[in-house]
Amino acid sequence: MTKIEISKFDAALGATVSGIQLGQAQDGDIETIKQALDDNLVLVLHNQTMTDDELVATSTKFGKLDIPGVNPKGKPFHAEHPEINVISNIMVDGQPAGNLGAGEAVWHADMTYKDDPPRAAVLYALEIPPAGGSTYFANMYAAYEALPDSLKKAIDGKTAIHDASHNSAGILRKGYEEITDVRETPGARHALARTNPINGKRALFLGRRPRSYVPGLTVAESDALLDQLWAHATQEQFVYRHDWKVGDVLIWGNLEVLHRRDPFDASARRRMHRTQIGSYWTEAA
Ligand code: OGA
Ligand code: MN
Repeated sequence: MTKIEISKFDAALGATVSGIQLGQAQDGDIETIKQALDDNLVLVLHNQTMTDDELVATSTKFGKLDIPGVNPKGKPFHAEHPEINVISNIMVDGQPAGNLGAGEAVWHADMTYKDDPPRAAVLYALEIPPAGGSTYFANMYAAYEALPDSLKKAIDGKTAIHDASHNSAGILRKGYEEITDVRETPGARHALARTNPINGKRALFLGRRPRSYVPGLTVAESDALLDQLWAHATQEQFVYRHDWKVGDVLIWGNLEVLHRRDPFDASARRRMHRTQIGSYWTEAA
């Protein structure tokens, strides 16, 4: 029997999970971790060792995996395991071996340009640069709750378009064209605030700021509303910052947090393997 311990951060979200190697987790452990994820929104596990097979097998115990979105290269970075997304700046034979390069990844949630975005992500650090590349997570329940009533009213019943054409590093995905009018941004429309069907709590659901648009408003009105929401949602009081070590695994609730990444020295190596868990919520009857 493993003895899992959960220890909450002194922050708006996040907890460390210790006493377990994720690659060896049994069904009971997975239930404990799911509950901890619902309670804390971001989980940090240190000193993990897993093969890619174990990463996929363990992630699958949480729920069905989503295949990564179209990357700038146009084919999976991990040929053997297409369900693994490689997040890396490393170049092999002059070609990127992974997504997102070494620049900043702006605040976003993953793959929300889909109608049914992943519920959670698992990100496993294999190589980490000596400095930079920290990742930040913001609690969108707390952000919604702290919204002024005027903004809660302003977003009630409104949706936003979540841009499918660019990734969070600002790079055009293969098969898309540059956008000149945000009213024509391709991507799913989601309500600006979303209710978790299990706990009934509302969270802001913003996706990513660039090329977003609120249908029904003029472009100027939409930009003004989105700018206000983004400035509010990314305030430090809602944020946990993670400084990575090799062997760290982070699991986050993709529908309840936003995340961003600092840039780092492009000549250093950073490499992570990620899975996307499509869904494990049983929708309330
Ligand atoms: C991601 C992502 C951040 C990072 O994997 O979805 O945004 O720290 N990564 O590389
Ligand atoms: Mn991301």
